[in-house]
Amino acid sequence: MHQDFDNLNKMNTMFHPIFLLLGFWYIFPAYIANGFAVFAKLIKFRHPIDGGRTLSDDQPVLGPGKTWEGFLTGFCSGVIVGILLVMTGPFLLALIIQYLIIPPELVPIVLISVPLVILVALGALVGDLIGSFIKRRLKVGRGRPAPILDQLDFLIMSMLMGALITPLPWPLVIFLLIVTPLIHLLANVIGYLLRLKQEPW
Ligand code: CTP
Ligand code: MG
Repeated sequence: MHQDFDNLNKMNTMFHPIFLLLGFWYIFPAYIANGFAVFAKLIKFRHPIDGGRTLSDDQPVLGPGKTWEGFLTGFCSGVIVGILLVMTGPFLLALIIQYLIIPPELVPIVLISVPLVILVALGALVGDLIGSFIKRRLKVGRGRPAPILDQLDFLIMSMLMGALITPLPWPLVIFLLIVTPLIHLLANVIGYLLRLKQEPW
């Protein structure tokens, strides 16, 4: 009896591995938005967001790797997938509460809303642009690696913008900050093997 109670208590914490995984549910539209922007490569004529302009440091504002087509491809993909998650949320919650006692703070992370997925997807693309802006200021060429920045720019901005509607509890934030660079690297290696990306990062 005592042991059962202890087990329940252990379940009822955001640090439980199962609940950490809910971070993926919340951030998935950002992963999709960031990942699907590369499919803009398949479009022949693309329009760089910075219009080819440079700043006083003679470096591009963002560089030719950031196009409107990529931005819109990523945003629309992220929102479409996000809407599917919004529609599935109640079913996931029903499934979880059959087996586990979910900490109340995590219920809004399962029952995400359309405005939230819009902000999460938008944040991912804006974060990616900010990352490129910083890379150019540091004179890191287009497509050259900037470890940590390349993997976390989109994630951090996505979580900040998402927090305007539903802040992610901090154990899930830490979890995503740790696992996202690994997933990002893996996804880029796959993109490289599929010849969608020139470099495996
Ligand atoms: N892409 C795009 N528009 C965006 C984001 C990405 O067209 N807003 C496409 C570009 O073809 C880009 C590819 O997706 O080359 C990979 O994206 P990313 O790795 O973010 O760009 P990089 O080319 O590495 O450029 P940067 O050094 O600025 O990160
Ligand atoms: Mg890159």
